[in-house]
Amino acid sequence: MKCRICGGEATIKLKSYNIKLCEQDFLNFFKRRVAEAIREYKMFTHQDRILVAVSGGKDSLSLWDILAQMGYQTTGYHLYLNIADASEQAFEAVKNFADKNNLPLIVDRLDEIIGAGIEQASKVMKKPPCSVCGMIKRYRFNRLAEEKGFSVVVTGHHLDDECATLLGNLLHWQEGYLARQYPVLEEKEGLVKRAKPFVYVGEEEIKIYARVRGINYVQTPCPYSRGATSLIYKRIIKEIEEQMPSTKIYFLKAFFKNYRERFYAEEEKVKLHPCPECGYLTVGEICNFCLLKKKLQKFSSQK
Ligand code: AMP
Ligand code: FES
Ligand code: ZN
Repeated sequence: MKCRICGGEATIKLKSYNIKLCEQDFLNFFKRRVAEAIREYKMFTHQDRILVAVSGGKDSLSLWDILAQMGYQTTGYHLYLNIADASEQAFEAVKNFADKNNLPLIVDRLDEIIGAGIEQASKVMKKPPCSVCGMIKRYRFNRLAEEKGFSVVVTGHHLDDECATLLGNLLHWQEGYLARQYPVLEEKEGLVKRAKPFVYVGEEEIKIYARVRGINYVQTPCPYSRGATSLIYKRIIKEIEEQMPSTKIYFLKAFFKNYRERFYAEEEKVKLHPCPECGYLTVGEICNFCLLKKKLQKFSSQK
């Protein structure tokens, strides 16, 4: 097998692009895809202070790795969830990566910030654990951006994640979500800017990147995500891509370019105001983070 670029021995085959590459040319190819997304959506520049949300999995650690390689100013952010048989390994992977690469890391411990674990938080909010966990992370991103001066937060969401989300949003005609699905969400009324630099790279490519770069990551997904509908959409998207290569990238790019704006009117209906407890912008009476803290207080006083 010959590398398409240098003609040397190719060890990597990318079906979606119908190309074979050697490791070095794969790394260059991967970096170009990421750089293209950063540039196209004006995600950030070398002057920005970037907070990278890292779970310990391959996506977010590869993201941190490549952004640091590209010379961006990055700090990792990890939310330690206190889940038995999962959180300690995830934290170790993040900590080892930060130490090995001499990169700054901020760790939040759930028990310290809300005085409870994710199961209890999920119970009092009557919402799935991953949804409460997502809410807490978003809340903390904004607080950290405000306190420590980060201008943008990035996550490891990739092409397969985004296609699965798009398919789910379309199947249920979630117009508000469709309006907001984009690789970059600009800073708005005190909410920090968010970006997904891996929007043009697929899960398989990230796996190869992590292997070639020797990144040690945890393989087990969040134990609460099992049975999530997103996994069904992902499996279907993967099957379609196998039969019809390049469908994923077309599906997503065409949505961003030609269709997303048709849902803008839905987004404008959402009116935000500051939470009376903490000042964080919210659609509810008080923000969900303060609501969670209140519910947990009530729960413990009833015990
Ligand atoms: P997931 O929904 O688990 O695929 O995660 C999506 C993205 O959220 C990851 O790529 C990370 O950027 C971020 N993330 C997930 N879990 C954590 C965590 N415990 N701490 C910080 N960031 C996280
Ligand atoms: Fe955090 Fe599942 S509980 S992602
Ligand atoms: Zn609040």
